[in-house]
Amino acid sequence: DGTYNVTLIPGDGIGPEISQAVKEIYDAAKVPIKWEEVSVAPILVDGVSTIPADAIHSIKKNTIALKGPLATPIGKGHVSLNLTLRRTFNLYANVRPCVSIAGYQTAYDNVDTVLIRENTEGEYSGIEHEVVPGVVQSIKLITHQASTRVARYAFEYARSQNRLHVTAVHKAPIMKQSDGMFLRACREIAAEYPDVKYDEDLLDRVCLRIVQDPAPYADRVMVMPNLYGDILSDMCAGLIGGLGLTPSGNIGKDASIFEAVHGSAPDIAGQGRANPTALLLSSMMMLRHMQLDSYADRIHKAALQTIAEGTRTGDLGGKASTQQYTQGIIDKL
Ligand code: IPM
Ligand code: MN
Repeated sequence: DGTYNVTLIPGDGIGPEISQAVKEIYDAAKVPIKWEEVSVAPILVDGVSTIPADAIHSIKKNTIALKGPLATPIGKGHVSLNLTLRRTFNLYANVRPCVSIAGYQTAYDNVDTVLIRENTEGEYSGIEHEVVPGVVQSIKLITHQASTRVARYAFEYARSQNRLHVTAVHKAPIMKQSDGMFLRACREIAAEYPDVKYDEDLLDRVCLRIVQDPAPYADRVMVMPNLYGDILSDMCAGLIGGLGLTPSGNIGKDASIFEAVHGSAPDIAGQGRANPTALLLSSMMMLRHMQLDSYADRIHKAALQTIAEGTRTGDLGGKASTQQYTQGIIDKL
């Protein structure tokens, strides 16, 4: 009937409030989506936190999910369910655009970059052990296969967005074999995309340069191993006003999960003060992924106007409640 089923994981802390905001905006914009809401409150199976089967089933069936933040319970057996989801669905590319929000002033108004983070391995493989008391070994797992896969995604993305410049970010002079393998994979793929400019840059150098002047990084796609992408994406978020404004998409072959980069913010949960923008922008990425661009464009514009007119939540120095901000967007649709 022309509507799409999408799994919605409201998540913990501020998750339900910001999800509610997105739902209200989507209703107002008449986006042809039917939400299938599932909880991923962890269940312990054999002492390990596990995602409930109906949530897994829903994502498998719908292949697209929008996800709020999930808190990682402290204690034995609990691993981050955020990571478990990425692993379960083999979401190999984590796409994190970072673009200045016109109308929200920060030190720069010209940040416009896209980070693509390898999302399944690296330091996140979770292989650690105490070799002898006092000595811990942590394995950074890099495979040629996963590196090639994410590199190819980066080049395809570069083409599709007409951002014809891919930079591989690395520390190969130090991580000779692991990052060396990652770079080798990137070079092999780059050779298949002669229309896309390819270069390489050191992670620390990118950090230094982009905070000094983001301009050279505009219209680029930067691809990198997992942990580098985790850190660099927060740093870039800082350049545009924080994690309340940065979206992300975890892309896999069989499913994709779109989520805000921020955490569950338990300190302000339930107070109606949370900023839903990051989740909303993540859902815009989702709409574009579903080729529902016209809805995304309309909602995006309304959100930017609302921020520009000064209807902002506390994290952006404003006084608006989540509800007032949401209403501001709805009024402009
Ligand atoms: C992110 C988050 C996650 C990560 C946490 C919640 C496991 O920081 O999406 O960037 O480290 O990848
Ligand atoms: Mn992070």
